[in-house]
Amino acid sequence: MTQSTDTQVSAQQQQVEEDLVQRVLASFENTPDPRLKQVMQSLTTHLHSFIRDVRLTEDEWNYAIDFLTRVGHITDDKRQEFVLLSDTLGASMQTIAVNNEAYENATEATVFGPFFVDDAPEIEHGGDISFGAEGQPAWVEGTVTDTEGNPVPNARIEVWECDEDGLYDVQYTDGRMAGRAHLFTDEQGNYKFWGLTPVPYPIPHDGPVGQMLQSVGRSPVRAAHLHFMVTAPEKRTLVTHIFVDGDPQLEIGDSVFGVKDSLIKTFEEQPAGTPTPDGRDLDGKIWAKTRFDIVLAPAEV
Ligand code: BEZ
Ligand code: FE
Repeated sequence: MTQSTDTQVSAQQQQVEEDLVQRVLASFENTPDPRLKQVMQSLTTHLHSFIRDVRLTEDEWNYAIDFLTRVGHITDDKRQEFVLLSDTLGASMQTIAVNNEAYENATEATVFGPFFVDDAPEIEHGGDISFGAEGQPAWVEGTVTDTEGNPVPNARIEVWECDEDGLYDVQYTDGRMAGRAHLFTDEQGNYKFWGLTPVPYPIPHDGPVGQMLQSVGRSPVRAAHLHFMVTAPEKRTLVTHIFVDGDPQLEIGDSVFGVKDSLIKTFEEQPAGTPTPDGRDLDGKIWAKTRFDIVLAPAEV
């Protein structure tokens, strides 16, 4: 650890720096919106603390400006490098933590990611979300209930995942829609579908965020996961994933800090030829099954 400001600079220098902080804080004093005032003043305090703490050099400041410029330049309506930056700094997960306070036994939330699309096809119970995406078939079933255990019928469940090559449909250039769908729970709050056993994959790392990860010796790889977003009237929308027990990437670490122990599920591999729950003929393929019971918090908590 480097020394902190207090021991590195004279009392006179500290006074100069502190005066500047106070002048910047005062410049926001007349902000009409109290929330905006709070945010800008807190940002000022933390940003100046950071600059003073690391004794930021002018070269480093220039580098940071250039880095953020590159983050902006690579960002378009398909590639959101600022979100990737937020994700890899843990800022996305911290925002999720602040806004999804633990509530009784409600299922924990995790990062949304950039690969959701809102017009994925609807499937019936027991339908297949793969639409041609390759991978090991996985039978996924569970219930959606409230925190008292009452079933939530007609909850909308969006699911999306990458194929066995670690790519989402939107990362291909042929306009395919695969590895995603939505379905609704039945009267008893049950749901079931065929998906793919998730595999680890790298977040897009051919831009400045990838360079940052490489410079600090971090991997861009995410632990294998299947995304869920569950919505129902009067319930807090749940954005989450399930992770695969035994995935070595869980030990190595998830590049966006999305893993929560409660979301790690067993994908139980079934020997080739094992009958499937719905009698589907998988042509002798090995398949897996998992269960994910989802508990929704009330909307206002
Ligand atoms: C994802 O899981 O899809 C994802 C999350 C954060 C950054 C990149 C991808
Ligand atoms: Fe993902």
